[in-house]
Amino acid sequence: MPQIDREGWEMSDAQGYGRDRQSAIYRAGVSGRRPAVPTDFAALSRLAKRKTTARGWAYVAGGAGSGATMRANRDAFDRWSIVPRMLRDVSERDLSVQLFGRRIPAPVLFAPIGAADLVHPSADIGIATAAARLGLPYMFSSQACTPMEQCAAAMGDAPRWFQLYWSTEEELVDSFLDRAKRCGAEAIVVTLDTTLLGWRPQDLNLGSLPFAQGRGIAQYTSDPRFRQMIRERVESGKDSGSAVSVTLSAIRALLSMSRRFPGSLLGNLRSPEPRAAVQTFLDTYSRPSLGWSDIATLRDRTDLPIVLKGVLHPDDARRAADSGVDGIVVSNHGGRQVDGSIAALDALAEIAPVVGDALTVLFDSGIRGGADVFKALALGADAVAVGRPYLYGLAVNGADGAHDAVADIVAEFDLTLGLSGHTSPASLTPDALRRTPTGSE
Ligand code: GLV
Repeated sequence: MPQIDREGWEMSDAQGYGRDRQSAIYRAGVSGRRPAVPTDFAALSRLAKRKTTARGWAYVAGGAGSGATMRANRDAFDRWSIVPRMLRDVSERDLSVQLFGRRIPAPVLFAPIGAADLVHPSADIGIATAAARLGLPYMFSSQACTPMEQCAAAMGDAPRWFQLYWSTEEELVDSFLDRAKRCGAEAIVVTLDTTLLGWRPQDLNLGSLPFAQGRGIAQYTSDPRFRQMIRERVESGKDSGSAVSVTLSAIRALLSMSRRFPGSLLGNLRSPEPRAAVQTFLDTYSRPSLGWSDIATLRDRTDLPIVLKGVLHPDDARRAADSGVDGIVVSNHGGRQVDGSIAALDALAEIAPVVGDALTVLFDSGIRGGADVFKALALGADAVAVGRPYLYGLAVNGADGAHDAVADIVAEFDLTLGLSGHTSPASLTPDALRRTPTGSE
């Protein structure tokens, strides 16, 4: 059986994980120690906000438009209730699931998140370390602050996937795919829902986009093809007429870009390349013209499993299955793209019955605790990805915090599973849930 949590709470397998973690916390409490990372999302979120700058919080906690999609994601979970079953001998539980040929200790992955250095300097390395300790896959973000090669080196043989934003530059797409393969990525996750950036008032009202400061573009600035694109841009003189007024903010932005660009700070401050890198990134990172014919080319470009992220309509899910990809992530990008979108869990309930036999169905957008994992699995997900909870853990306590936030979710899932009369993810079906009666029903 696979290992979970290779350090800290040493476990030979995931069985009893929830109880062991719970007991360890209570035991530490006897000596007066409390968990550094609050064990519920509301308290975690409050603490993370206190530890994060206003701009950082706007980006990580913010969503599209009025925030209706983020609320809908949570409301959808509340509309399903777990119906616990009794007297079923749940003493032996196995949380592990098989994804693309690899058995992982629990049905939980680390979602890709960009610009993580907004909340903690360890950023992607901190997250990679946390994921590797748990043995749960980390989807490297295209918008990472650390090149994928460095994250891979920090993870040993722990599982990692690569999330791709499909650039307008096809050679860059191929370069990312090749690098991901060489980094040991076990799947390519193509994000479909961000061919344009959503309208995000929290960021807009501060005039703040991390990438414009050179944050979250390390996969690009470490890429040979992208470096060539930068040089071509500089040589073309494209930006020479676009003067930026010299304000304190503009100087800070230049410093931020130069500090994050490969090479010496002094050399970068003298070079046009860091600024050209940001402009090149903004012009090319994603392609609104992306269509199914592009997806069809992927099979010849990588031999890794292909997962399409951001599917919300059963017809798109069917089309994905017909196109020969291996999986989908039912997701609305954590409510960050389309305001007033269908809740991701509602979409899952429609999609999983349609393609569940043909595709691996993953889910994200709104997972905050173990009961949410239970509900998503019962509605047909093979596994879920967690985003903001681990990022908030990172904000609170670096790599240990990211680890603890996800370990807590796994622990709560384990206890919820057992207390509801189940012993493995495979036994979860919609029958484990009931629609929650609402006032109008
Ligand atoms: C990018 O993926 C974002 O949500 O900002």
